[in-house]
Amino acid sequence: MARAMAVTALSHVYPLGSRINEAGRLEVGGCDVVRLADEYGTPAYVVAEDDLRARARNFRAALSTHHGESGEVLFASKAFPCTAAYRVFAEEGLSCDVATGGELALALRGGFPPARIYLHGNAKSPAELREAVAAGVGTIVVDNFDDLDNLAEAVPAGATQRVMLRVRPGVKPSTHDFISTGQVDSKFGLGLDDARAAIDRLRASDRLQLAGLHMHIGSQIFELASFRKAVEAIAHLGDFPAYNLGGGLGVAYTAQDEPPAIDAYVEAKATAVREILGADKHLAIEPGRALVANAGVTLYRVMTVKRDLSTYVSVDGGMSDNLRPMLYGAVYEAAIADRLSPGGELCHVAGKHCESSDVIVRDAHLHDPRPGDVLVTPATGAYGHAMANNYNGVPRPPVIFCRDGESRVVVRRETYEDLAARDLV
Ligand code: LLP
Repeated sequence: MARAMAVTALSHVYPLGSRINEAGRLEVGGCDVVRLADEYGTPAYVVAEDDLRARARNFRAALSTHHGESGEVLFASKAFPCTAAYRVFAEEGLSCDVATGGELALALRGGFPPARIYLHGNAKSPAELREAVAAGVGTIVVDNFDDLDNLAEAVPAGATQRVMLRVRPGVKPSTHDFISTGQVDSKFGLGLDDARAAIDRLRASDRLQLAGLHMHIGSQIFELASFRKAVEAIAHLGDFPAYNLGGGLGVAYTAQDEPPAIDAYVEAKATAVREILGADKHLAIEPGRALVANAGVTLYRVMTVKRDLSTYVSVDGGMSDNLRPMLYGAVYEAAIADRLSPGGELCHVAGKHCESSDVIVRDAHLHDPRPGDVLVTPATGAYGHAMANNYNGVPRPPVIFCRDGESRVVVRRETYEDLAARDLV
């Protein structure tokens, strides 16, 4: 049986370099995931480090091919804010997008030179702005008029700060409403009329140096035409040396998903900038999900299998380690880590939380699931660790990096002591 399964091909949702080994088990980064589950416990986020590096290189190569040397790839670190990930992407020569003072602290800890950091945020506090200026953050993306005033105050007299202005192009790509950000009615950035007024004020400032415009129209986007439409929409705001077109490239969560390739996505953005805005522009892009989602899988242990009207395969994690199915109706795959061939019994993979919505994968096909099995959900490298929480007092999982058959814990599992670490009574 194991031999027959050894020939099963894994779909493109799994990390690059994954395979089914001679024992019929999933291998990620050269490591047998059943052994990882035994060694580190479950649930656990397992990340193929080479996959992260390969995608970072892919983005940089594509930007250099389609835009020349005046391009910059930023790691949108909200997708996977852990020190080890910051370190990998800093080593790969990426720049970094942080959304808060907390992410800024992590990015600095992870080794990003401050000059290569962009600070975003629609509700930055004056303290966050002061922290960013004091740290020497290269670019601060101004979101609104209050932000502009607060930033001008945070910059010491005689000093200057490079800024970009976040604008809302009024484009709504087809993706979940909760992750659309560039439509006319949105809390992010300024609409086109207000943007003109903000540009005038920034141009008049002696402390804030306006380098150009930023926009991010949303996330998990498959249709490249939206990015061009957004560039068209902001073209009449003026001529600037730099543009940051945000992130948004969608990824494959299931074998049926066929997102555009990194190269095609970068080409679409670079072409739009060259044709619509001019050939001499500095172009920054901010991939988050597309850098990290498919590099990671989550390992769970099956606790119980309940066969009733539906078959519920309940595991030892759930909405505390992956909120995306509950928040966005996101669809994932699941497989038993040592029985991966297609087909099997129709099941729902449920979490351990006290909520009916705590179902990680509906309508999964699993081979003879039973308590003790290691169950894997691929494509969980983005916004899983980032949005993990302690609902029901569940300690958050560790992050384990794998490479060439070696594994290392880069974030340890939380303990019960951690759960009470901030309690003062
Ligand atoms: N740049 C800005 C300014 C952003 O707000 C975001 C994501 C990105 C770049 C990266 O976008 P990406 O390449 O990952 O699509 N929690 C949601 C996603 C929220 C995205 C927020 N902003 C999810 O799990 O789908």
